[in-house]
Amino acid sequence: MAVLFTGIKQLLTFAGDDAPRAGTAMRETGLVSNAAVLVENGVVEAAGPRAAVHRHRLAKKAKVVEVGGVCLPGFVDSHTHMVFAEPRLKDFSMRAAGASYQEIRAAGGGIVSSIDAIRRQAPGAMAAQLAGRAARFLACGTTTAEVKSGYGLSLESELKMLRAVRGAKKLTPLEMVPTLLAAHTVPPEFAGDARKYLAHIAAEILPKAAAEKLAVFADIFCEKGYFTPEQTTAYLKEAARLGLKPKAHAEQLSNYGGTRAAAAAGAVSVDHADHVFAEDIAAMRDSGTIAALLPASNYYLGLSKYPPAREIIAEGVPVALATDFNPGTCPCWNMQFVLSVACTHCGMTPEEALCASTVNGAWALGLGGSRGVVAPGRKADLAFFAADDYRELCYYFGANQCSLTVKNGRIVHSV
Ligand code: NIG
Ligand code: FE
Repeated sequence: MAVLFTGIKQLLTFAGDDAPRAGTAMRETGLVSNAAVLVENGVVEAAGPRAAVHRHRLAKKAKVVEVGGVCLPGFVDSHTHMVFAEPRLKDFSMRAAGASYQEIRAAGGGIVSSIDAIRRQAPGAMAAQLAGRAARFLACGTTTAEVKSGYGLSLESELKMLRAVRGAKKLTPLEMVPTLLAAHTVPPEFAGDARKYLAHIAAEILPKAAAEKLAVFADIFCEKGYFTPEQTTAYLKEAARLGLKPKAHAEQLSNYGGTRAAAAAGAVSVDHADHVFAEDIAAMRDSGTIAALLPASNYYLGLSKYPPAREIIAEGVPVALATDFNPGTCPCWNMQFVLSVACTHCGMTPEEALCASTVNGAWALGLGGSRGVVAPGRKADLAFFAADDYRELCYYFGANQCSLTVKNGRIVHSV
């Protein structure tokens, strides 16, 4: 049955070219005032001025939902580490007492301290916990999210994490896109031998994840003390050969060459990009790579440096925004908070920030064209907010303004 969502004060469609948005195109929101959206069979039938949509042949028999407020495409969060067994509260206390990322790692915290609990967790419990977290994303207006492995760091546990994503799909309407992040750090069994661990990933983990179709993307953490730029290019090329699309965590803590290394392997996105220089930005532009910025992690880590969004946008590289939800550097699942930080600390305009968290997020997940816009024939993934003006979503912070979330045409959250 068709559903007519109407009474919308402002609808941002982001309708336009089937391509990631770059430069000034990131400011084109497709704003329609006094709007309606008509949905049938999980797909948008019509979206635009209320009077025109109400005249559509399906509108007469449709169920009418008077929502009001502001309507956007559901957020597409292209970078999360949503599977983790336990929060890292010891790291949090150390950080509050002044310890840095590197100091916490040296004291036994950081990524490796998430391994034990993940390896112990039963698969069913892992999937159930993930579905519980997914409900929180949906309640904040996110309808699609990437989910990485990367805390198992063994064949068995990495595959267990990815299978939990598959299992959780039956438990939540949140659309989840799995990424293999076996190359997150070197696990203790390999005693710091990154070369040997990468060989193990290439021989065992990548082929099995690919054969079972457990992941769409492969990701690697390119940073001093983790994996080198040379290792990044080789690893991502091997992943691509097996059918996993490349992505990388790069230039998060220092300028180390990860962006150029990932671009050389045809990365769909380079994520973090805090310490990029002009040549790194040019490499992203030349390889058609999206810069996925994660400024809520900078906020949480108490850093004064934020990703140089203005320079990246000025050079014509499409920017996406994502939460980076994870237990160590960003325990935040609310994309609305990311919008606030992007505008207050990265110099992005509200229009750019909203574009980056919807249409460009979809492109960063290889879902551009079907998600991240509100247009006829596209997935009916919508988020409604209790606001009069879309800029309020970036202006108010620390709260959840989402009043209704629609995934594939179905209401999956409402207050
Ligand atoms: O995106 N940089 C590496 N990975 C995560 C942190 C993961 C963790 O600390 O558990 C990030 O910030
Ligand atoms: Fe991350």
